[in-house]
Amino acid sequence: MNSYIINGPGVLRGSFFLPGDKSISHRAVILGAIARGRTVIKGLLESEDVLSTVNAFRNMGVKIEQRKDGGMVIDGVGLYGLKDPKQPLDMGNSGTAMRLMAGVLVGQSFPSTLVGDNSLSQRPMARVVEPLIALGADISVESNGYPPIQIRPVQQLNGADYVMSVASAQVKSAFLLAGLCANGVSRVQEPEQTRDHTERMLRGFGYLVSKQDNWVCVTGRKELVGADLVVPGDLSSAAFFTVGAAIAFDSQIILKNVGVNPTRTGAIEILQNMGASIELLNKRTVCGEPIADLMVNSSALRAISIEADQIARAIDEFPILSIAAACAVGTTTLHGAEELRFKESDRIRSIVSGLKGLGVSAEERPDGYSISGGEILSGEVSSHSDHRIAMAFAIAGLVVSGSIFIKDTVHVKTSFPGFVELATSIGVKVEEQSEPYGG
Ligand code: S3P
Repeated sequence: MNSYIINGPGVLRGSFFLPGDKSISHRAVILGAIARGRTVIKGLLESEDVLSTVNAFRNMGVKIEQRKDGGMVIDGVGLYGLKDPKQPLDMGNSGTAMRLMAGVLVGQSFPSTLVGDNSLSQRPMARVVEPLIALGADISVESNGYPPIQIRPVQQLNGADYVMSVASAQVKSAFLLAGLCANGVSRVQEPEQTRDHTERMLRGFGYLVSKQDNWVCVTGRKELVGADLVVPGDLSSAAFFTVGAAIAFDSQIILKNVGVNPTRTGAIEILQNMGASIELLNKRTVCGEPIADLMVNSSALRAISIEADQIARAIDEFPILSIAAACAVGTTTLHGAEELRFKESDRIRSIVSGLKGLGVSAEERPDGYSISGGEILSGEVSSHSDHRIAMAFAIAGLVVSGSIFIKDTVHVKTSFPGFVELATSIGVKVEEQSEPYGG
């Protein structure tokens, strides 16, 4: 079991690139595999989560190769060219891989089973089963709603309308991916706008996606055409250092080539509302995705109230936003964020128990938390096997006068390989150990 020790305090300085965006990387591999012709992806995130998606397609006969210059080349097999994997497909720790893959597989002519690790095996999958059944899929999960997901082939999927009850880009994307194999038009409506990378990237592969009022629509049974793609840096990874530079003394960083899709920038706006100095420089669009360089300076933060309509656009950033809240003057409250309980860990619980262990006054609520800013003390935190909890508390180490020990950090590589090396190079005094502290 790996662990981190972070010795504080620290100053963050530097100008650097981040690994590729995880959401966009999954979609690039998926669409590349089911397109006709060759797709070349530059900047793909080669983390464990994305490799689960890559391996699944390799097991279904898709040739995916790493080029010497770092690009990933996929020879797409078309919508109906995947082969029976004849074994369960292991999605590891990745909810995105499992849910999006379910959307791909329900339209295929062979049966399939999707499995995952301990954490993924306790995440809700009924949310993806219901919309796929609406399209005529034969798909089921265990009676508790958890994986494995079992998929049996059907004669034909048929387009349908589906109104989502949870704001989830994974559910929306699974539905749209299944809609590619369905007869006629498939339309999905979401309760809040979630990340729209699937819609943007489908267009990049020559597929028409339309928006009517708040319905997203695809017409099925047309082929995608392979494309050349460049994946921007991951804003969710950038968020750790953004908060780090804001809370650490005398810091300034520039994060280069970061994806700033407006469906993802909720955390930047929340931090700016808290008083953080974050500037978006050099804005441009690459492969249909807005990107920018982020300049962040040390700032005095103040508490705010975060409401339900702000959650979806910052869904993965609440672990690190909680560290900003712990450094702000006043009490920050979060409402309408029950979805955080269904991530790689129950993030409301993981955040609050981690902060309390470091002497911060924090309270759990059914749908969020309240955190009173003050001094963060030395102590020990469990990541609850959750990559974002581990990285958030590593950043908290920038403001302690002693040290923070974080147990169980092995999952950081699901989203951010090289986190320790990058963090160290810009001023976080973090050491990785391959044995538990004192053990
Ligand atoms: C993701 C969507 C979000 C997010 C996850 C990635 C995606 O999940 O938390 O890390 O790539 O579509 P939900 O759709 O379940 O909210």
